[in-house]
Amino acid sequence: MHTIILAIESSCDDTSAAILQDGVVLSNVVAGQEAHAQYGGVVPELASRAHQAHIIPVVDLAIKKAGIAKSQITAVAFTRGPGLIGSLLVGTSFAKSFALSFGLPLIEVNHMQAHVLAHFAEDPKPSFPFLCLTVSGGHTQIVLVKDYLDMEVVGTTLDDAAGEAFDKSGKLLGLGYPAGPLIDRYAQEGTPRFPMPLPEIQGLDFSFSGFKTSILYFLKREIALNPDFVEQNLADICASIQQGIITILMKKLRKAAKQYQINEIAIAGGVSANSGLRQALTELGAQEGWNTYIPAFQYCTDNAGMIAVTAYYKYLKGEFVGQEVGPYPR
Ligand code: KG4
Ligand code: ZN
Repeated sequence: MHTIILAIESSCDDTSAAILQDGVVLSNVVAGQEAHAQYGGVVPELASRAHQAHIIPVVDLAIKKAGIAKSQITAVAFTRGPGLIGSLLVGTSFAKSFALSFGLPLIEVNHMQAHVLAHFAEDPKPSFPFLCLTVSGGHTQIVLVKDYLDMEVVGTTLDDAAGEAFDKSGKLLGLGYPAGPLIDRYAQEGTPRFPMPLPEIQGLDFSFSGFKTSILYFLKREIALNPDFVEQNLADICASIQQGIITILMKKLRKAAKQYQINEIAIAGGVSANSGLRQALTELGAQEGWNTYIPAFQYCTDNAGMIAVTAYYKYLKGEFVGQEVGPYPR
């Protein structure tokens, strides 16, 4: 008999469902939410309402694309946290109801662990132990991955996440939300000719709040001299911001690789979709003699495929939860 898992992801502003058969992703459907762009960030109330509207069609489509029947599903997985409580509630409630009505085992998944295990959705797969720089809208972590379900966070941000650094900098430039992909696009046309001050943080931790503040003062200063500064230099400003963030990330990743003597190095999370970061990792990897692992785009940003992959390893270990389970936002 096949193991077929239906996985649901609804932690932030993407509603996603995936079907995985014996460890292989058959479908991975993601519905984004346009509603937040005009507010410059995710509005939790709008997000949970949109999840409610999207979840049934998204699950239906995932099942249809996988070419399976609902009755073939053997387990249901969902993101329990971290994330927005209202958003998580929609996915959690849906998964519980589905499991209850079909009499299926239920698997809860940690969203950050799933970003790391997204590397096992496709080849090439890293071998253990490896280091994973997990960079998203809410988190920035260096994770020491000892086994599928055995991970240790060895470095983390003390304030903002890398994705927030992109999004907040973009907001200062008048770009829409999320600004990360927009900065990436403009940066490709620009030169990083504006030096950005980099924080001096001990150990393997990160800090991005000072970086954002220095961009604010830099822009204020330049706009006072030339009101059209941003318009005239947008590509170069974006290239400079992006390079600053990448420098901060790569410096700590290199330090972690040395400290743990590991040369299997991966990146994951929404910010790992950044073309500059992908290139920087490849270049630094070649220089340091690392084997580097970069997920395909569909497995970088939030998606249920990574939830399904994680759930599969929990399924193999018999790690199920009961109907009393609730979301765990933090
Ligand atoms: O993992 P993710 O989809 O959701 C969270 O779990 O937070 O990450 C979203 C973050 C946002 O901050 C977004 O701006 C950033 O990933 N992001 C990017 C790019 N694509 C998404 N940042 C820089 N360059 C990109 N190409
Ligand atoms: Zn995420």
